[in-house]
Amino acid sequence: MKVAVLGAAGGIGQALSLLLKTQLPAGSALSLYDVAPVVPGVAVDLSHIPTDVKVQGYGKDDLADALKGADIVLIPAGVPRKPGMDRSDLFNINAGIVKNLVEAVADNCPEACIGVITNPVNTTVAIAAEALKAKGVYNKNKLFGVTTLDVIRAETFVANLKDLNPANVHVPVIGGHSGTTILPLLSQVEGVEFSDEEIESLTHRIQNAGTEVVEAKAGGGSATLSMGQAAARFCLSLVAAMRGENVVEYTYVETNSDDARFFSHPVRLGKDGVEEILPYGKLSDFEEKAKNDMLEGLRGDIKMGEDFVNG
Ligand code: NAD
Ligand code: LMR
Repeated sequence: MKVAVLGAAGGIGQALSLLLKTQLPAGSALSLYDVAPVVPGVAVDLSHIPTDVKVQGYGKDDLADALKGADIVLIPAGVPRKPGMDRSDLFNINAGIVKNLVEAVADNCPEACIGVITNPVNTTVAIAAEALKAKGVYNKNKLFGVTTLDVIRAETFVANLKDLNPANVHVPVIGGHSGTTILPLLSQVEGVEFSDEEIESLTHRIQNAGTEVVEAKAGGGSATLSMGQAAARFCLSLVAAMRGENVVEYTYVETNSDDARFFSHPVRLGKDGVEEILPYGKLSDFEEKAKNDMLEGLRGDIKMGEDFVNG
């Protein structure tokens, strides 16, 4: 198994690479690419950890070599938010970065599964899909927007509120990855009752948790450590599924549903990426209204990505 991390010298990239170095199956390879000159040093640093995972760093002119033979490509390359910004404010810089990187994936490892982390995810996943399509290699079963951070936050906040062990709490989160497009399905959390006020305040907190971190970091960026953990969980689930295990994760994929072209669903992963997109089940009245209210915005975010590539 070869996993490539593009943007590996960044806040997410380094945390994610550390977790993968210590948790990928023995015999795996980790390929670290970044335009920042520190990336070979990050690779040397990680290579001193005694696990059977080979680490190689690649500088800005070595993208093709970084990608050759990759089974999974994770993309956290790009700029993060500062206080006062929305994720959509990152579009101008990050759209081009994601397009260029995904075109290189198409040229060098077109069969790889791609996990897009770069914001605005609602839009960058559509950019990736259209860029792959233009190269004639788009496989909708192999493109994922990584929305696992919303899930782990929801699990943490519910566990804290109800004094439970977060490891035993499972919270579905569907939709997209910004503001009200993030839709936690608290009505489906097993064994936990919420008041209407709790549902409103928890939903609001989960939808704004990214901003909570951005404001707390006060200009120093956005979530990196929790995102590293979330991306590692997603990647390790994909690796396990590719090795034959039955794994379901919530992730932003191309669907055939009426909601939006891309939408986070529970997805059964398999050796070729998406094995089955599972239904998200029955929504409460509160969730149904929240979904209907956000769909237009999500569809607009997606269209922006499609238009970026197709003109
Ligand atoms: P960061 O600035 O710490 O790191 C970004 C890295 O990308 C840097 O090392 C930079 O050199 C590199 N980079 C820039 N252009 C590149 C290119 N063309 N090729 C390769 N590498 C390139 O930022 P971060 O905190 O790690 O965040 C990265 C992105 O992830 C941001 O867009 C952020 O909004 C997003 N993010 C997404 C989620 C999510 O849930 N999906 C969560 C947190 C952050
Ligand atoms: C998050 O949810 O933490 C990320 O999308 C980063 C951000 O800008 O909020």
